[in-house]
Amino acid sequence: MKQIQIDYYTGTGGSKLVAEMIAEKLKNNDISVVVNRIIRDKIEGVKENTADYYVLVFPIHSFNAPKPIYEWVNHLKGNHCKAAVIAVSGGGDVMSNTASRHKTVKLLKKSGFNVIYEAMVRMPNNWMKVPNKEKCISILSKLPNKIEEISQDLISEKRGRQVIYWIDYLISALGELEKRVTHKFGSRIKVLDTCTGCGLCSKNCCSSNISMENQLPTDLHSKPTFGNRCDMCLGCVYNCPQKALQPTYGAFQIDKNGYNLRQMCSVQYEIDLNRIKST
Ligand SMILES: Cc1cc2nc3c(=O)[nH]c(=O)nc-3n(C[C@H](O)[C@H](O)[C@H](O)COP(=O)(O)O)c2cc1C
Ligand code: SF4
Ligand code: SF4
Repeated sequence: MKQIQIDYYTGTGGSKLVAEMIAEKLKNNDISVVVNRIIRDKIEGVKENTADYYVLVFPIHSFNAPKPIYEWVNHLKGNHCKAAVIAVSGGGDVMSNTASRHKTVKLLKKSGFNVIYEAMVRMPNNWMKVPNKEKCISILSKLPNKIEEISQDLISEKRGRQVIYWIDYLISALGELEKRVTHKFGSRIKVLDTCTGCGLCSKNCCSSNISMENQLPTDLHSKPTFGNRCDMCLGCVYNCPQKALQPTYGAFQIDKNGYNLRQMCSVQYEIDLNRIKST
């Protein structure tokens, strides 16, 4: 294998960490790796795949891939390249998550890829209820071994596909309904006065949904303005250094104690913090 392309989508940094840890393992095995973050603005510019092996990493959102993954894959040209789909989730390999890669695999095949491998990586859950500190550390402590296992599977071009039962398809199909309302989550986020206009939320929004604008001529600095393309990754709300973003639609999905992967990793010595400095 000469070159692997790893494309990842992330909201709160977990999938980025997984993608970069795999990339590092592969590089240590003398494989050339290109890592690329999926953001909506880049979709139109997606180029024909030239790698020998294509790897797609994304978080599970309501038992499925986030919407930009489908759009991204639709723009790809696989040229019969071997491919792997790696999902990152709070629940791991539980029944409700098993069909989460199904639609993505189908679309990858349609775009000309030969999908030979699927895997799931468990990360601390960022949705509704974040696990307590001990649980997060326990989950993160298993990460290096899981990354090693997946990397070796990719290197040996191991074949492994998920068996899916009808109930999993059903749960996954119901989860897809969520995509109809995610735009409301973003468009109804309230910006509090504590916002300093640093622009971090706008820079990191994976769906290119936040622009920095001066709302009043008297404003000292610009403030985030939300469009209608939110995919509810929760990144902007959790990562704002001032905690200045307050959801008013679907607010139950946010844990009031916050979600800071960088902080969680700082107690897990095996993980290099520099990798998750920014998402
Ligand atoms: C809107 C939303 C829906 C989610 N749905 C699921 C789910 O169905 N199953 C699950 O195990 N985790 C679910 N999660 C948790 C994420 O998959 C998990 O925390 C993941 O590590 C986030 O990755 P990221 O940090 O790359 O964004 C959901 C997260 C969000 C934001
Ligand atoms: S909402 Fe937060 S991240 Fe966004 S510009 Fe304001 S302070 Fe920065
Ligand atoms: S607006 Fe916020 S929650 Fe929505 S996609 Fe962008 S960063 Fe994620």
